[in-house]
Amino acid sequence: MGAAPALEARGLVKEFRGFRATNDVNLQIQEGEIHAIIGPNGAGKTTLFNLLSGFLKPTAGEVTLFGQRIDALAPHEIVRRGLSRSFQISSVFPTLTVRENVVVALQAGTPLPHRFWTPLSRLEGLRDRADEILQAVGLSDFAGRAASELSHGEKRQLEIGISMSQEPRVLLLDEPTSGMGSEGIARVAALVRQVARGRTVVLVEHNMSVVAELADRITVLQYGSVLASGRYDDVRLDPRVIEAYLGDEPGEGGAA
Ligand SMILES: Nc1ncnc2c1ncn2[C@@H]1O[C@H](COP(=O)(O)OP(=O)(O)O)[C@@H](O)[C@H]1O
Ligand SMILES: [Mg+2]
Repeated sequence: MGAAPALEARGLVKEFRGFRATNDVNLQIQEGEIHAIIGPNGAGKTTLFNLLSGFLKPTAGEVTLFGQRIDALAPHEIVRRGLSRSFQISSVFPTLTVRENVVVALQAGTPLPHRFWTPLSRLEGLRDRADEILQAVGLSDFAGRAASELSHGEKRQLEIGISMSQEPRVLLLDEPTSGMGSEGIARVAALVRQVARGRTVVLVEHNMSVVAELADRITVLQYGSVLASGRYDDVRLDPRVIEAYLGDEPGEGGAA
């Protein structure tokens, strides 16, 4: 037996009033890989992320992070153990500056008793760290601007920065390129590759060129179940996957 997977789901089920949004999902994410989750709208991708990150409790099944059960933990406890996620919907505070958004995220990661009496020296340290993160996500020039002034794509960059501020070993990104033009998509794809250095990344992604470029392995969800999982080049040639999702043009954009 090798090391435990970075993230693993076993027999994961989520029912909403009898409707199975997640149906017996088994999934292994190895440490250091970029793993893409694909599948049509309504396939259960976001629900799976909510289960993996503790925002939803499973109806049945287990989630482990580096071999330790996390499915009964609260989201902030899971963050503390090294898994953080960005949201499909922008979760940026619009009236704060770009830098303040990152400082708030950094403060949220400090132990509770310190949060109310943060010494000035520590706040300055957070500012410096925030500026490093903004540099990493390509937003240095926007640090002092209100987050509401950012373009859609820049907000997604900021969200990745906010997720990174928690220094996660495992990062979940839900549709980081959604709603972007080709320039933004290329920028975010490069950013994902960069933040994936030294960590494990799981991303939900509709753009098949991005998936092809980034993902070591992919998992295809359909009606809440895993249809196929494996190396991109193998999975995309799986006849069931072609029929169900990719259509006859693998590598050309995928379903809406
Ligand atoms: N909180 C909820 N209550 C009831 N049904 C939900 C809830 N969240 C998701 N669903 C349903 O579960 C299915 C999967 O949704 P979702 O995980 O958002 O899919 P995806 O992210 O793949 O588009 C959909 O049919 C959706 O309507
Ligand atoms: Mg979704």
